[in-house]
Amino acid sequence: MEVALRVLIYVGTGDAVARLSVERAARQSNCELTPDPDTAEVLLLPLSDEADRARISQVRAQNPRATLIAHTMVQDQDLWVSAERAGADRIENSGGLVVLLRRLAREFESGPQRQRMVPLCSVGDVAGRLGILACVQHEIGELLLIKGQGKPVCLVGPCPHAAGSLANALIEDGVMTCPEHGSQFAIDTGERTRGPADEGLQQLRVVEEDGKYWVVAAP
Ligand code: FES
Repeated sequence: MEVALRVLIYVGTGDAVARLSVERAARQSNCELTPDPDTAEVLLLPLSDEADRARISQVRAQNPRATLIAHTMVQDQDLWVSAERAGADRIENSGGLVVLLRRLAREFESGPQRQRMVPLCSVGDVAGRLGILACVQHEIGELLLIKGQGKPVCLVGPCPHAAGSLANALIEDGVMTCPEHGSQFAIDTGERTRGPADEGLQQLRVVEEDGKYWVVAAP
C-alpha cells in the first residue's frame, strides 16, 4: 500500500496565487493535502516578514513533532535565521519546494517513522540547572541537552576537530568550550566561534512532552 506524506499548507493573508502554486508543488510531489495539523507530517508556511516569523513560532508551539518548512522568495539572511530560531526545521526557496517535497515523500514512503523522538531526561530532574543537563549517546552522535539563558537546546557532539567528547565541556556566557583543544561553539546555534575546529555543531529541536525533554532526530 502506498504511504502518502501528509502536508498542511498555511497561507499568507490574501495570497491566493501563492497558495495555488504551493498546492501544485505538493500534488506534483505525490503528497496528500490535509487541513488537520494533528495528522500532518509536514507543515508548509510562507515566510516574507516578521508577522510570518511570529506565526512560525506559534505553529511550532502547537505542533512540536511535524517537520516545519518555511518557503520564501525573500533573500534576507536575518529573516531566515530568525525563522529557524522560531522553530522552522528548514527554510526553502519557493522555487525549490517541488524538489524538496519529492525527496521527503520518497523518504517517507520508505520509512514513515523516520522522524524519531529520542528521550533525553526528565524535566523535573534538571529543573533550575544551567549548562549541560544531559548527554545521551546515540547513533546520531553525542546528544547534548544544554540550557543557557533561553530554552534548552540540543547540540550534537563529538567535537568536529578531533572527535573529543563534549560531555564535560565548559559552558559560559552562551559559549561551549571543548575540553580537548579549546574550540568554541555558540550554544544557541551550534555555530563555531573559535578553532581549531573548522565547522560548527548540528543543532536539533528539543520538545518538552510527558514530563521529559526529547530531541527530534529528523533527517
Ligand atoms: S577535539 Fe575539540 S578542539 Fe580538539
